[in-house]
Amino acid sequence: MSTAKEPSVDDKNRQLRRLREEAELGGGEKRIEAQHKKGKFTARERIKLLLDPDSFMELDQFVVHQCAELGMAERKALGDGVVTGYGTIDGRLIYVFSQDFTVFGGSLGEMFARKVCKLMDLALKVGAPVIGLNDSGGARIQEGVASLAGYGDIFFRNVMASGVVPQISAIMGPCAGGAVYSPALTDFTIMVDKTSHMFITGPQVIKSVVGQKVSFEELGGALVHSQTSGVTHFIAKDEEHCIQIIKQLLGYLPSNYLENPPIRETHDDPNRTDEGLAVIIPNDPDKPYDIKEVISLVVDNGEFLEIQPLWAPNIVIGLTRLNGRAIGIVANQPSYYAGALDINSSVKGGRFVRFCDAFNIPIITFVDVPGFLPGLEQEHGGIIRHGSKLLYAYCEATVPKITLIVRKAYGGAYDVMGSKHSGGDINYAWPTAEIAVMGPHGAINIIFRKEIEKAKNPNKKRGELVAEYRKRFANPYTAAQKGYIDEVIEPTETRPKLISALEMLATKREPRPMKKHANIPL
Ligand code: HXC
Repeated sequence: MSTAKEPSVDDKNRQLRRLREEAELGGGEKRIEAQHKKGKFTARERIKLLLDPDSFMELDQFVVHQCAELGMAERKALGDGVVTGYGTIDGRLIYVFSQDFTVFGGSLGEMFARKVCKLMDLALKVGAPVIGLNDSGGARIQEGVASLAGYGDIFFRNVMASGVVPQISAIMGPCAGGAVYSPALTDFTIMVDKTSHMFITGPQVIKSVVGQKVSFEELGGALVHSQTSGVTHFIAKDEEHCIQIIKQLLGYLPSNYLENPPIRETHDDPNRTDEGLAVIIPNDPDKPYDIKEVISLVVDNGEFLEIQPLWAPNIVIGLTRLNGRAIGIVANQPSYYAGALDINSSVKGGRFVRFCDAFNIPIITFVDVPGFLPGLEQEHGGIIRHGSKLLYAYCEATVPKITLIVRKAYGGAYDVMGSKHSGGDINYAWPTAEIAVMGPHGAINIIFRKEIEKAKNPNKKRGELVAEYRKRFANPYTAAQKGYIDEVIEPTETRPKLISALEMLATKREPRPMKKHANIPL
């Protein structure tokens, strides 16, 4: 007969508390210290910063890996390197997973992946955003194919959740190899400057395979992915800034595709006119100006969350509000490449238009585009294929689409940029709008080439013809006569006009032909 005393209820409760404390320490105090020394918060500290106070409900705190290879049976950490659960931000439900670098370098194994998948399954059933805080050495080497399978299971869920619930990825440490594809499949990635890196193959492999010497930062740092590759949407100066961007972004988004974005009360008068708008466009039509000035004078309190500001700056995209309603802005930027569309700007704009459409965010387009960027590099790089992405996205989108041509709208780019023909619901133009097949100089050189050559004074002749062309074509009235422009408006009245159209279109529904899925030119 055993004499051992049965544990009391108190003992059992104490045991639970002990286990919880153990789980909360992750990989232990030493590794937490090392994490802090690198200027990084721990997985739990990040969640605390992200969520409303005391709102976090953790799941699977006691999950451990099932691997016995390479001495792993003796090395287990409660939670297995990822903290998962749900909570609220501004009172709204979100799901979060936060990779714990202090446990096996945040590397992903079978059970780790199962925790993330469980969370994503819940998010999909309930209809709430998933936030991933990434800080990981990638596939857990000791778990072999089980960890590759785990990644695959997450990728699959990323795709299933795409367009159903918003998915946001913060990169707060390493993110390497195939692991990068989970963030890449989500809607937005934010990288923390200097402490985060993303790459498919690291510096060592690159050196041995192709002989190039490159640092982590040069290869896959936040700046490179913000400016050169376009992989990331935001660069955060530190982790707190990163969390702040996530919260800001969520403020514009619905929880799922069946809801509308939240309306936020504004004190900015919807009927506010702005004299500043009347003097932004220079008298010389070839002179640049900053389209962001136009945006900030029109939207609520001038607040604009620009997305991918450093990549393809010839197109500006971002989220803002008009009379409290969230909207997506797409605008040509005349101060870069004169606002011409190229490969990167088409891809940037196209993806954003599709994001807005997926989550019921109306699109407002500001147009000042001289056309597609000419050149061998663009043609051979596939501008035909890439430019068609933007065109496709506009035609496909069924959210309210309001377009304002502020100056140039030439050639194919006129059609692409939210024209009536690509499904614009309300199309405005300022009196400075120029809508034609091409700009005056190009047009005159083609249609009057012989006359100019024959003229006694070719330059004078060209000048006269350009002036005549500008008078006849470079205005909004020909398009307005055909109903392609619904109204020519004064620049000062832009805000009230856009708001009125937005309110009028609030209940817009536009069915599309039934199909399995469309085939966007990738
Ligand atoms: C298991 C790993 C690990 C991994 C790191 N660790 N990466 N354990 N599998 N992939 C462990 C280390 O052994 C160490 O354990 C702890 O995490 C911290 O790692 P350190 O190297 O000491 O940290 P640091 O110097 O900061 O370097 C971090 C790092 C480096 C840059 C991430 O660890 C690294 O290069 N890791 C390998 C990265 C990688 O190549 N991953 C595979 C990518 S391919 P101890 O016990 O000492 O604390 C991939 C394929 C996915 O992911 C495919 C999906 C389809």
